[in-house]
Amino acid sequence: MSSTENSAGARFTGKTIVVTGAASGIGRATALAFAGEGGIVYAADIDAAGLAATAAASNGEIRTVVTDVTQTEDIRALMDRAAAETGGIDVVFNNAGAGGDRAPIDEIEPAGWDRTMDLLLRSVAFGIRYAVPHMKGRASTRNGGAAIINTSSVAAVGPGYSPTAYAVAKAGVLHLSKVAAADLAKHGIRVAAVQPGFINTNIFTRALDLTGDAETSAKAAIAAMSQQAQPVARGGQASDIAEAVLFLASEAAGFVTGTSLIVDGGMTIGPRHSWDPNSPGIFEALEQFVQPPAA
Ligand SMILES: NC(=O)c1ccc[n+]([C@@H]2O[C@H](COP(=O)([O-])OP(=O)(O)OC[C@H]3O[C@@H](n4cnc5c(N)ncnc54)[C@H](O)[C@@H]3O)[C@@H](O)[C@H]2O)c1
Repeated sequence: MSSTENSAGARFTGKTIVVTGAASGIGRATALAFAGEGGIVYAADIDAAGLAATAAASNGEIRTVVTDVTQTEDIRALMDRAAAETGGIDVVFNNAGAGGDRAPIDEIEPAGWDRTMDLLLRSVAFGIRYAVPHMKGRASTRNGGAAIINTSSVAAVGPGYSPTAYAVAKAGVLHLSKVAAADLAKHGIRVAAVQPGFINTNIFTRALDLTGDAETSAKAAIAAMSQQAQPVARGGQASDIAEAVLFLASEAAGFVTGTSLIVDGGMTIGPRHSWDPNSPGIFEALEQFVQPPAA
């Protein structure tokens, strides 16, 4: 290994890295970050124009592959191509996603449930399934081993962060990451999840099919809301998640597997009143009823 490979600035030199959902948001930021640190990045997404924009923004090596992660043959072809062109796969970031069906549990229809699970959970299972045969050989020869990172969400913590089907799928991703870590440890492959909080990307306006002026206004509202949604007093950015993913994929995380990193600015620390002075808790709300001590 050269000194460049070992330096903090180029942790992924010569490594083959597959990123799904790389045409926008978290996936794009992470693909660019991996490429910026020497990785040979396979950026996959259903959105060809967005992929081209990701590649254009890169100063490293990004190869684009139009992929629908709900189609297992697309996933298999993506992994096979990355391995055929570079000799194997070192890192996979299973990240593609969308808001899913927004219906509550007493109204959701089977098709909407299945569509959401296919996009957010089944895609991750088969991202692992079809990558692993190409990762086994790399794990023993490469520093830090091979690593798979999957995008879960704070929605996996409990209700209230997302629609129901999305939350259940993301909890599934969390559990899948743990179980897969156990299955794949014998091959030297680490598996971890990342749980983003409120991150300012296109996912919200896309979930509502907003375009034109409505999209512009909604994006401004999302940017403002995201600054006040958690204890850390700024909005969460796609680059915050990219930083976490690169750590989990790096040699520095060589003893980290089967776990998850919550990157939410503290959103899930506890009830809002525990950190927001403008949001009264039960004792503050009851203060008005407190009687003066008897004389
Ligand atoms: N933004 C947040 O607050 C947040 C929070 C928690 C988790 N997440 C998760 O992060 C991941 C990335 O989301 P984002 O916020 O960057 O959103 P985004 O909309 O900016 O990016 C998602 C990308 O996934 C792609 N995609 C959608 N369906 C696809 C398919 N069938 N095949 C291939 N690609 C497909 C989209 O084209 C898009 O480029 C998702 O899994 C999302 O659920 C986001």
